[in-house]
Parts: sequence; C-alpha cells; structure tokens
Amino acid sequence: MLASSTSATPEAARFRRRLMAWYRDNGRHGLPWRLTRDPYAVLVSEIMLQQTQVERVLPYYAAWLERWPSFTALAAATPADVIREWRGLGYNRRALNLHRLAVTVISEHGGELPASPAALRKLPGIGPYTAAAVQSFARERPIAVADTNIARVLARAFFGAPTRREVPARALSNAAEALLPSRDVRHHNLALMDLGALVCSSRAPRCGECPVARVCAWRGSGYPPGEAARNPAPRFEHTARFARGRIVDALRAAPATAAELAAMLPAHHAERIRHYLEALEKDALIAPAADGLWSLPPGLR
Ligand code: ADE
Repeated sequence: MLASSTSATPEAARFRRRLMAWYRDNGRHGLPWRLTRDPYAVLVSEIMLQQTQVERVLPYYAAWLERWPSFTALAAATPADVIREWRGLGYNRRALNLHRLAVTVISEHGGELPASPAALRKLPGIGPYTAAAVQSFARERPIAVADTNIARVLARAFFGAPTRREVPARALSNAAEALLPSRDVRHHNLALMDLGALVCSSRAPRCGECPVARVCAWRGSGYPPGEAARNPAPRFEHTARFARGRIVDALRAAPATAAELAAMLPAHHAERIRHYLEALEKDALIAPAADGLWSLPPGLR
C-alpha cells in the first residue's frame, strides 16, 4: 500500500502525476499569498488562514499588507491597532501573537525571519505547520507540509481512514514525506492542499472529480464513516469562538459585569460565562476592572 511507499516507487510517482495534472487545471493559482515569496507576507497569510476560510481572509490580507507591509511596520503598530484591524477574523490571539512576533523579529533577529526551523518554532504563534509552510511556500525548502486538508487527503488515500484523527500523526507525517517529489515540492504541497480543500473535503468529498480516486484506500474500502459523521460540527452560534467574540465586542463598546455579559448571550453560553471570562483573561484579551466590571486591557482599548 502507498503508505509504505517512498517517493521513488511507481505508486507514489503515479499518484503525484495524477495530482499535478489535476492541479495544473484546477489549482488556486491566483491566491495572492502564492504570488509572493516574501516570508512576512506568507507568514501573515498562514496565520490568518489558520482557522479562517480563504474567501474571508482575502480582504483582510490585502488591507493588512497595505497598512503594515513589513515586520518593521507591524512592530511599530500598537496591540490595539492590530486587534482592530483583525476584527471579524476571530481568534484575536493570533493578531497579538503576530504583533509580538514582529517585535521579536526586529529586536532579536535583525529584522529577518530566522532561517532555522527550530528558531522559527520559538516565535509566538508558530507551530509545526506554520513553520513548515513558511519554509515551503516562501523559501521553497523541500519539506512536507501537512495542514488539515493535506492530512485528510493522506489519511483517506493511504490509510483508508475518513479523517486525519483516525491516523497517528507520526504515520501521517511519514506518509507525507514518502510522497515528496524530488523537485518542486512547493507546488506538490499546494496541490495536495487544493485537492483537500476543493475535492476531498471533509463533509462532501467529490470523488467523481478526484484524480486519485482509483488508488484511494478509503474509497476502496467503501467509505467507512468517521468521527465527523458521528459528531457533526456544532453550529457557529454554539461554539466558544462565537461567545468569546461577542464578549470582546461588548467590552470594546464599554466595560460590563459578568451578569451583563451573560445576559446578552444565549442561555447555553450564559451558564458558562465564568469559564469564558477566565479563559479570555488568561489570553490577555480582557482584564478585571473596578466595581466588578470587566474591560479590555489598557493596551487593547
Ligand atoms: N496557500 C498557501 N497556504 C495556504 C493555506 N494555508 N490555505 C490556502 N491556500 C494556501
């Protein structure tokens, strides 16, 4: 089976040939962060794309780069400015980390994103995926990248699993490495990402359009259902992200008590208000103020 293949095996070569032929005609080649090799711009895009859909990110990415085109420009901004510019993208901690990262790059790395993966990983908000993405997409290093889309493609095609969660992370990264071509790894990674996003989607895969359907282990074993089918994703209004966003938005307008904040949330969130407030305080996105009020921390107002 393909999971144990190496890039040199005929199976791996065939998989890549089909994938790349599909990608040439169907890939998302015009995405603005794919038209640059600037590590700063690529990093901004990857942080924005971490938990947000491509279409939603596009206008934020353009506005951000126009306002702060470099690490130097971003490092000179205030945390309050970056939070305001980020508003609507969600998970505000990403914006604060990006700002802290810019400050660190200027103060400790002479204004350049560090070259070594280990040094990259030490920067705020940079996990293994983002470090690999910058290395591959900006610097064209020949390394595997495995975002959730790519991991799902590999889990299905090579392990017969419906989602990446059914496969040990180590096995997935071994499979990603075994599949790497000897050149143009950047486009190989982008092609896998696009296949996952456009065809091998989590909820409604279009196997009829898939260039590797014939060798897909999941399809071959009759599409066993996975966790996603048993536990469908909650509606957005039921997520902690929704509640946290509403709380921060309310406090941006004016300080409020826990009871006032609970009152503007649906009941299922209101009963968890203490938990949300504690978590937001821990992330330094809100702070306790006088008289039992909560507010945005001084730096974010
Ligand atoms: N191109 C490069 N990185 C990407 C990402 N994370 N999502 C979508 N397209 C991308």
